[in-house]
Amino acid sequence: MINENNINSINITERAKRIDDSIILSIGDPHFSTDDVIVENSFELLRTGTTNYSDSQGLEELREAIINGFEYKNYSYQDLVVTPGSKQGLLYVLKTLPRDSKVLLFEPHWHSYTNLIKDLNLNYQVLNSYDINFIEKLKMTDFDVLIVCNPNNPDGYILNKTQMDDIIKVIKLKDAILIADEIYSNYDYESSFVSFSKYNSDRIIILNGFSKRYAMTGWRLGFILCSDHNLVEKLIKINQLYATCVANISQYCGIAALNTRFDSQLLDYYKKNSEIVLEYFPLAAKRLSGGFYAFVDLTDYGVKLSGEEFSDLLFKRHKIAVVPGSIYGNSFKSYFRLSFSVDREILIIALYKILNLIESLD
Ligand SMILES: Cc1ncc(COP(=O)(O)O)c(C=O)c1O
Repeated sequence: MINENNINSINITERAKRIDDSIILSIGDPHFSTDDVIVENSFELLRTGTTNYSDSQGLEELREAIINGFEYKNYSYQDLVVTPGSKQGLLYVLKTLPRDSKVLLFEPHWHSYTNLIKDLNLNYQVLNSYDINFIEKLKMTDFDVLIVCNPNNPDGYILNKTQMDDIIKVIKLKDAILIADEIYSNYDYESSFVSFSKYNSDRIIILNGFSKRYAMTGWRLGFILCSDHNLVEKLIKINQLYATCVANISQYCGIAALNTRFDSQLLDYYKKNSEIVLEYFPLAAKRLSGGFYAFVDLTDYGVKLSGEEFSDLLFKRHKIAVVPGSIYGNSFKSYFRLSFSVDREILIIALYKILNLIESLD
C-alpha cells in the first residue's frame, strides 16, 4: 500500500508546477542543471556507441572511481553495486531482509522510507530523534535493522561522533544491520560529517549517489556499498531482475562527474543559501548543519496552524510550495520543510514572504 494520504513532496511540487509564477521550495532537486562538461561528455559517448546494456553490478571503472572520489577508504570496487538511484538501492536492500525483520527509523525521516517499508509489508517502528534520551531508548528498543539518514532529510541534522559511536555499539550489541543513507554527504556546512563507512563493518550498508552531489537527479545513478559479499551477490541479482543495469550512459557520465569540481561549486552555493535561511529562521540552526532543507516548527513562532494548514495557506496567498512536517513523522505536525536548493534571489523573496505570513498569524 503506497502512502495512504497521498501527500508527498513530489505531488505537492507537481501541483505547484501547474500554477504560473509559483515558487517551489518543496522538492530536493538542485536548481542547477548538470554541469556542461558532463552533458558534453554524454553527447560524445552516445555518438560513439555507448548505447548498450552494462554489467548488473555496474561498470568496474565507475565503481573504482566512486571508491576514490567518495573516499571510501576501507572499501574496494567489489563492495559496490550501482543502482538506478539510491532510492531503488534502498528498495533492493529492504528486499533482501527476512520477512519478519523489525525495522527501526529515526523520526523525522524521509517519507519514502515508510512508503517502501509498507509496500514490502515489513514491520517498522519509529524513535523520535528530538528526544534527548533517544540513544538510551535505542538501546531499549528491539530491532533488527536501523535506517539512518545523515545528513538528515528533512532537518539537515548531522550526527556527532559520540552519537555515531553509540549507534554502532547498539548495532553490534543487537547483531543488527545499519542502513546509512548518506545521499546528502556533499552538503556538510560545518565540516562535521563523517561517513559510517569509516566503521568498516559488514553490518553496515551505505547508500549514496550522484543525484544531489552532482545535480544529476534525472540520470538515476546511485549505489550501495557493503563489505558483506553474500549480500552484494544478492543485490546484484535483484538489480539484474528488476533493472538489468543502470543506463550505461549515466554510468559513464558518473565517471565524468567525478573528474569535475562541480560538487564543490554546489556545496558553496547551497552553504550560502543555508546561511540566508538561518538569518530568517535562526531557530532552525538547532538542527541544520547539512543537506538542503530547513525544518521549521511553527509553534516556535506562536503560530497555531498545523504544518498542513500553513502550507496550504502559504500556497494560496503566495504560491509558495513547502511540505508539511506530518509526512516526516507524527510528532512533527506543527512543522514544515522548505528546500533551499533553489536560485538565491527566488529564495530570498520566498523567505521574506513566508516570514511575513508567519508574523501576520501569531
Ligand atoms: C534521504 C533521501 N534519500 C534518498 C533520496 C533519493 O535519491 P536518488 O535520486 O539517488 O534515488 C532522496 C531524495 O530526495 C532523499 O531525500
